[in-house]
Amino acid sequence: MQDFFFIAFPYIALTLAVCVGLYRYFSHRFTYSSLSSQLLEKRQLFWGSVPWHYGITLILIAHLLPWIFPGAARTVLGNQTRLAVLELTGIALGVYCVFGIAALIARRLPNDSPARAVTSPMDWILLLVLAYQVLSGVGIALFERWGAAWYLSTAVPWLRSLVSLHPDAATVTGLPVFIQSHFISGFVVILLFPFTRLVHVFAIPFEYLWRPYQVVIWNRDPQLPQLPVLHQIAASPRPIPLNPAEVQRRQLLTRLGILVGGISAAIVGIPSLAFLLGLRKVPEVWRTLGAADSFQIGHTVEVSFLDPTPLPWSGVTAKTAAWLRREGPDQFVAFSINCTHLGCPVRWLPNANLFMCPCHGGVFYKDGTVASGPPPKPLATYPVRLRDGMVEILTTPLPITTV
Ligand code: FES
Repeated sequence: MQDFFFIAFPYIALTLAVCVGLYRYFSHRFTYSSLSSQLLEKRQLFWGSVPWHYGITLILIAHLLPWIFPGAARTVLGNQTRLAVLELTGIALGVYCVFGIAALIARRLPNDSPARAVTSPMDWILLLVLAYQVLSGVGIALFERWGAAWYLSTAVPWLRSLVSLHPDAATVTGLPVFIQSHFISGFVVILLFPFTRLVHVFAIPFEYLWRPYQVVIWNRDPQLPQLPVLHQIAASPRPIPLNPAEVQRRQLLTRLGILVGGISAAIVGIPSLAFLLGLRKVPEVWRTLGAADSFQIGHTVEVSFLDPTPLPWSGVTAKTAAWLRREGPDQFVAFSINCTHLGCPVRWLPNANLFMCPCHGGVFYKDGTVASGPPPKPLATYPVRLRDGMVEILTTPLPITTV
């Protein structure tokens, strides 16, 4: 089931978003609109639209940047002060968004609201999903703090594995259901994207930034002074006849949309289908960590190695790390660097002989068992072997959190 939610469903959502989005763009281009209701009641819209759009844009950027630049994000978040400032800023933006979406929903609730008259069932579904998304995000930030840190070692590897078409959900399947639901509802938003007015994000009028200002003058029909503008428009429909050349052009664009959508679906659909059918396994590769003699008995050191499926464009993210402990002449143990609570990287404190998780205070003994704090189980370990005097580690995806 988790394979479905964290591997198949994201691909289904993305495939539909791309295919239906392209189809709609080429065949029904003029339905790409936010169906602005600004003319209906501007004041209420302001209190919802401004906090929502500013808040959600910044939050999306904050989610995307660590995903695209994980190495830089790790450096930035490695400092406790910066982490605290970013965490508080994120919570403030989340609350700002909650206020915005609440106002956007509230303005459509009254029966006599003009905005309600133009609200479709899909609008309600979208508003509720978006409301859940921001509420759950704020809840996670409040109750599972330091999300910026553990997001890097849980969601980021999973999302990058989806993009690289080597899906691997091991880092998220053990997270608390509440956090999982936040990830899944994010993909529900993507799924709803081409079916709702959300498509307007691709119709952002950037040219407004540099075009000369324009003066808008009301031009109401004097015969219908009492009716709202949309009712006036509806009261005097003027169908525009299409000429054959226009029909042909539209047919061509529709076919083009289907073709591009089909190719996109194949690109993301075939690898994910192969993975789900078991035709494609996540590879396990032995990686050399160094000569056995370079590790001292009784010491724990950090070792880094390439993950099993590095891609040419992975850059620094192809490297992963573990804690290696030499127990005896031929005995080595390699611990996962990720805490079993929410996946934050644990640190080795040589003076205390303990692993410490900086996120929520989890502590592990030198053998990886839990000493205190929220981690529910010992640190995961990698298989290790000695070969020709070299220490090797089996790089395989580890379920790093609670399962
Ligand atoms: S991630 Fe919460 S204690 Fe480690």
